[in-house]
Amino acid sequence: MDYYPAHLCLAGKKCLVVGGRHVAERKVYSLHKAGAKIQVVSPDATNGIKELTERGEISYQKDCYSSDHLEGVYLVIAATNNRNINKRIGKEARQLGILVNVVDSQYDSTFISPAVFRKDGLVVSVSTGGESPLRAKNVRDTIGKSFDQLTDSPELKRSYSKVIGKPGVVYLVGAGPGDPDLITAKGLNLIQQADVILFDRLVGKELLMNAKYGAELIYVGKRSSKHDIEQDSINGIMISKARQRKVVLRLKGGDPSIFGRVGEEMLMLKQHGIQFEIIPGVSSFYSVPMAAGIPLTHRNYSSSVGIVTGREDPSKTASKVRWAELATGVDTLVILMGVKNLRFIVQQLIKNGRSPDTPVGLVRCGTTSSQEILTGILSNIVLKVKQANFKPPAVIVVGDVVSLHSQLVACAKLFRQDAV
Ligand SMILES: C[S@@+](CC[C@H](N)C(=O)[O-])C[C@H]1O[C@@H](n2cnc3c(N)ncnc32)[C@H](O)[C@@H]1O
Repeated sequence: MDYYPAHLCLAGKKCLVVGGRHVAERKVYSLHKAGAKIQVVSPDATNGIKELTERGEISYQKDCYSSDHLEGVYLVIAATNNRNINKRIGKEARQLGILVNVVDSQYDSTFISPAVFRKDGLVVSVSTGGESPLRAKNVRDTIGKSFDQLTDSPELKRSYSKVIGKPGVVYLVGAGPGDPDLITAKGLNLIQQADVILFDRLVGKELLMNAKYGAELIYVGKRSSKHDIEQDSINGIMISKARQRKVVLRLKGGDPSIFGRVGEEMLMLKQHGIQFEIIPGVSSFYSVPMAAGIPLTHRNYSSSVGIVTGREDPSKTASKVRWAELATGVDTLVILMGVKNLRFIVQQLIKNGRSPDTPVGLVRCGTTSSQEILTGILSNIVLKVKQANFKPPAVIVVGDVVSLHSQLVACAKLFRQDAV
């Protein structure tokens, strides 16, 4: 009887490997690649298994197998060096309807593993139905050696790049500050290939025009007051789409690591066994001031920069931001999400020793055609913002470098026009 060939989706599924030697280790590595939630049970373990355990990527229980270990398990691999134990695992798993591979007995298994070759998002699986694993390996290696020749033609490459991606993966991509040309080549390439794109409020919408036909575009722009609930549903969408084996792209303004909650999302994806990759972006914190002729450092004016969130409840009794140190501890202070709290921020800076004459610049919708700039000094900026009805989103820069704006803004602008 022939085997039915299939590729399993194991993302987030509980998989048990019984055994801790090299055969078990190889199985652990391939389950790990597939995003499975792996539990290893064995009285001993290889260094590879121990390393993955120390990194928190799998769990290892120093124990002998007992049928309790099968509870809640989706798939089990019996890879001990004891045939009788392997056989027993096969029998107990089959009785419970759990997928089982007994490494030394295909007859005790409900599935067998093919010889696999992977490259550039392609997976080639070769099987002889368990008759001759060595023959399967030889064929796999021959395909591997000629893979580049087989796939090298430019037309083939072009057609691949449209369809392949790694299914069931989430890419956390920085979209840059607003100008759609300020995304990385890798980020743009992934936009063209993604099946699902979740995009934030400050992402340049022109970028979405690059999405492939039929891609699902989901707006997940957050309002600060409802942050937590919305983050939960964003997480839920990412998990469920990745589990449907889609190429999911989470497009975030600027760089994902700057006040972009990327750390939380990475931990969440890791917890659910979903593969992900971070593609950095051009952050607004330096590119937006520069688009207004304000470099954050300058040999005569500033040798240090601090980046601060301005989104704090001014009624809080204690601020998480260390204004006392920051007020005079750095030459240039960059504040994101700070327009609504500007009065409080200015008070903190002056109270903690920053001169009221320090130049301040606000740049709204920087690098886009709606860019607006407002400058002043600490003692008058709140009034100026009010009079000009200056709205967020803006990057606020405090420090002497702001005085360069009047000399450099024209060059920054010309530079942008030249670049078009
Ligand atoms: C949640 S933070 C995200 C920052 C983003 N990860 C980055 O690296 O630019 C959003 C804040 O970034 C700033 N911002 C982002 N893009 C901007 C732009 N084009 N012009 C002005 N401010 C911008 C604003 O302060 C906004 O409130």
